Amino acid sequence: MKIDLQDKVAIITGASRGIGADIAESFVQAGAKVVLAARKQEGVEAVAAQIRAAGGEALAMACHTGDTAQIEALVAAAVERFGKVDVLVNNAATNPYFGPMMGVEWPAWDKTFDVNVKGYFAAARAVAQHLIDRGAPGAILNVSSVLGLRAGRFQGVYAMTKAAVISMTKTLAVEWGPSGIRVNAIAPGFIDTKFSAALTHNDGIKKMIVDKTPLGRIGSPDDVSGLAVYLASDAAKFVTGATFVADGGLTVE
Ligand SMILES: NC(=O)c1ccc[n+]([C@@H]2O[C@H](COP(=O)([O-])OP(=O)(O)OC[C@H]3O[C@@H](n4cnc5c(N)ncnc54)[C@H](OP(=O)(O)O)[C@@H]3O)[C@@H](O)[C@H]2O)c1
Repeated sequence: MKIDLQDKVAIITGASRGIGADIAESFVQAGAKVVLAARKQEGVEAVAAQIRAAGGEALAMACHTGDTAQIEALVAAAVERFGKVDVLVNNAATNPYFGPMMGVEWPAWDKTFDVNVKGYFAAARAVAQHLIDRGAPGAILNVSSVLGLRAGRFQGVYAMTKAAVISMTKTLAVEWGPSGIRVNAIAPGFIDTKFSAALTHNDGIKKMIVDKTPLGRIGSPDDVSGLAVYLASDAAKFVTGATFVADGGLTVE
């Protein structure tokens, strides 16, 4: 079976750089039209311009995914521009606090849960409602993390939100499966992006990670996007409620 996204419209949050930008570009190569969201318009506009220059179709829109009204406006704009949405990739996340759980302050806690959990659910619900209204099938991908599967020393609040995303993925798969909406999660390990730079650009920490990784390297965004293309495509038509790890084997033992 050919894996493609021909005639699909996909919204990707956090699409101005890193994993989200790579997923967007891979989706376009697979035939999709894309709607790119991030807080800063110029960031998503730059990725959209590259996609258009290569012959693809992309709409760029500023959207803070911690604000449910902005998410609803994003989904409405996508439908207005392309007539429909088939795929959502919840990818924009935040991790403002690094330290022991004893030290976390509520504003950082709230921000992490608002963007990483409430924002993912608000976007999933808005897209699912659109799909149900259209009577169309669809796919939702939630970018979680291997930290959603294990202890998150010094990143405990972030890890809790990523575990919540895996739980949400399972429940939404159960509730929306009868409507033909598949919901899956991707759990990346260490991927070289701005988000992980404090760890992956520290030589000592990088060596520790690489030594523990069977494939012997830090990942790059394109180590994640192939999985996203597959899960968004009809090739994954019997796959839902699952979490797929892309970590070079880091967490296998
Ligand atoms: N990198 C890793 O090692 C790693 C490992 C496991 C999981 N992940 C997950 O992978 C996903 C992408 O991370 P990444 O490494 O690609 O990060 P990144 O390179 O820092 O990119 C983050 C993207 O999200 C956007 N963003 C941040 N906060 C936002 C908000 N409140 N509303 C809308 N957009 C927002 C950013 O643009 P603006 O700044 O313009 O908003 C940017 O486009 C996240 O869910 C992260 O938890 C990453």
